[in-house]
Amino acid sequence: MSVTTTDYDVKDIGLAERGLLKIEWAGAEMPVLELIRQRFRKERPLEGMRLSACLHVTSETANLAITLRDGGAQIILCASNPLSTQDDVAAALAGEHGIATYAIKGEDDATYYQHIDAALAQGPNLTMDDGADLLTVLHTQKANLLPDVVGGTEETTTGVVRLKSMAKDGALKYPVIAVNEAMTKHFFDNRYGTGQSTIDGVIRATNILLAGKTFVVVGYGWCGRGVASRARGLGSHVVVTEIDPVRALEALMDGYQVMPIAEAVARADIIVTVTGNLNVLDRQHVERMKDGAILANSGHFNDEINIPAIEEQARSKRRVRDFVDEYRLPDGRRIYLLAEGRLVNLSAAEGHPAAVMDMSFANQALSAEYVVRNAKQLKNEVYVVPEEIDREIARLKLHSMGVQIDTLTSEQEKYLASWEQGT
Ligand code: ADE
Repeated sequence: MSVTTTDYDVKDIGLAERGLLKIEWAGAEMPVLELIRQRFRKERPLEGMRLSACLHVTSETANLAITLRDGGAQIILCASNPLSTQDDVAAALAGEHGIATYAIKGEDDATYYQHIDAALAQGPNLTMDDGADLLTVLHTQKANLLPDVVGGTEETTTGVVRLKSMAKDGALKYPVIAVNEAMTKHFFDNRYGTGQSTIDGVIRATNILLAGKTFVVVGYGWCGRGVASRARGLGSHVVVTEIDPVRALEALMDGYQVMPIAEAVARADIIVTVTGNLNVLDRQHVERMKDGAILANSGHFNDEINIPAIEEQARSKRRVRDFVDEYRLPDGRRIYLLAEGRLVNLSAAEGHPAAVMDMSFANQALSAEYVVRNAKQLKNEVYVVPEEIDREIARLKLHSMGVQIDTLTSEQEKYLASWEQGT
């Protein structure tokens, strides 16, 4: 049975049927979220909560939105990136599942923010972000709505960094659970999800062979580790650049070449930024790049590559394929920018595979429930996901994969709790 809503702004509601199939396909790889959904249907832990969510509108997010709705939330969803929306999924959410959805792939910045306003129009009790844009608009432009908000959740590293700065300045006005900090989130989503989907985005956009190419990964956090390992798996010579000595050492001992970015860019066939920081590929780097170098970003915001500087330096620009812009420099060299410097994995491909989003979104759903249950005790701070939730998700995921593990014997438990025994 389909339930439609009149509250939506999607590209074409006629795409709903295809979107439904995609949501079902992703759902089959999300068994942990499905278990939570079955319990939510019975227990309705989010009953009556007005939930405004700003997430990448993908088939995996659709499964989360349906779970939250089945848990009793009145959810309005908008996009957390102008290029990451899957238009057929957005249509299915609005047209078949009755979930108010505001998201169009390729929307301009003004529409992006209008969609955030539409999500906030209900006056939320709960917020869910991927990058903290909705929470920021709420705090800066709609502070009158803050008293009704009991809490929120945040999906990504960049969002958590923003929220921690707000909390430090005393600017955060409700508690937020940093879903990204869960082990069952960043060990898997950031590493294996970003690793695979970034390579997928680069390949779908360009169809280049990675074997034998020099592939530079800028930043060796969880995402960088994943991208580097997958690029190596396809036969690239991987070079890592870092500013953190411990991470640089780790990259070196993981078997990658490590060098300053100024040196790395001169050798690169492909450069992917995954730092969460500003202008890590800047004007002076462009000057050293080889003819034909391909640049992509898989960090949250489109500010890791200094695109205005490239636009200024270039003599001409043309779109040579979907998601590929060619910039010709005054000396004749060409450089190729993928997906306008936005998240290449979500813009040119479909984002992380459902099997990892299963754990990330299990954390989201259980964190939303946790915030609602514990709202009175929580302060206006950034909280980690409780360890019981994290471990339970890992247990359920293993179980769904048919994998069993061991438990400590009582002798071993006693040994670990004691300090007297030595050699
Ligand atoms: N972030 C990265 N991949 C994603 C996906 N497939 N769905 C939602 N958010 C994501």
